[in-house]
Amino acid sequence: MLIEMFSNNKYTMQNTGYQEFFQKYLPIMGYSWQGFRKVKKQLFKRLSERLRKLGLEYIDQYEEYITQNKFELKKLDDLTYITISRFYRDREVFETVKNHILPEISAKAKLEQRVPSVWSAGSCSGEEPYTISLIWNMDIMNNKKSDFTIRIIASEKNSELIQRSRAACYNGSSLKDLPEIYINECFIYKDDKYFLKNIYKEGVGFVEQDIRTEMPDGIFDLILCRYLVFTYFSVEKQVDLLRMIVKRLRKGGYLITGTHEKIPIIDHGLLEFNKCIYIKC
Ligand SMILES: C[S@@+](CC[C@H](N)C(=O)[O-])C[C@H]1O[C@@H](n2cnc3c(N)ncnc32)[C@H](O)[C@@H]1O
Repeated sequence: MLIEMFSNNKYTMQNTGYQEFFQKYLPIMGYSWQGFRKVKKQLFKRLSERLRKLGLEYIDQYEEYITQNKFELKKLDDLTYITISRFYRDREVFETVKNHILPEISAKAKLEQRVPSVWSAGSCSGEEPYTISLIWNMDIMNNKKSDFTIRIIASEKNSELIQRSRAACYNGSSLKDLPEIYINECFIYKDDKYFLKNIYKEGVGFVEQDIRTEMPDGIFDLILCRYLVFTYFSVEKQVDLLRMIVKRLRKGGYLITGTHEKIPIIDHGLLEFNKCIYIKC
């Protein structure tokens, strides 16, 4: 009991002023405190590690350090990310992708004799773009019996996550929402890890990009922008980025957001297909 009280106390002491600090600095970087509120422990942990590395004890000292070191704001930005993701996250969304969106995209692209294209923005360790690849190969291409290809671009600002995406080796928890048929068919299970088979990595490209300054080239049939812009960014940033995202969407193409996210109410040229899926009109 005493130990518990002590450690809680220690935690509070160590993180004193962190919330106020982030409330001040997140908007400077284009983020919103509101979005990070529920996952603040991840942020606080990284910040206290940064302070420890710099040999600093208090947040005021760190603020002082930021004002004296112009590159520190970039360092702070680099530790401001959330890595929650899973294959087939929000099952009902991927059921719609499988049964409606990808069949439609495939039919249109065939008719127009072009390769369909998908962009996953903020792709974490590859769970989201690879989910599209699995559905495409298993359900649309009837497990590679047809050779009609798709181009899937995944953008992510964290280079370590890009490396993890390329390695495509996952814990069981990353696959907990994925229907068993895909797990059995598409992964090799070894040493308590799931390795994605190479054929499902084909056609999926990863680029290191910060969505605030860069987006992949091209026009897309489907853009997944989930649990990034419309959760963690300030409203002003959301408006700017939504406009730029819509520009990259083909007419009749789909934008998918997180199930609990709301896009800003502006004249964006999108029609609501269901609560988190939009079509460009
Ligand atoms: C919460 S995860 C969501 C992953 C995936 N979209 C999903 O819904 O499962 C957010 C991802 O966006 C990345 N991210 C954060 N800020 C970014 C930025 N400015 N540009 C590109 N990616 C960013 C994070 O590193 C993280 O991998």
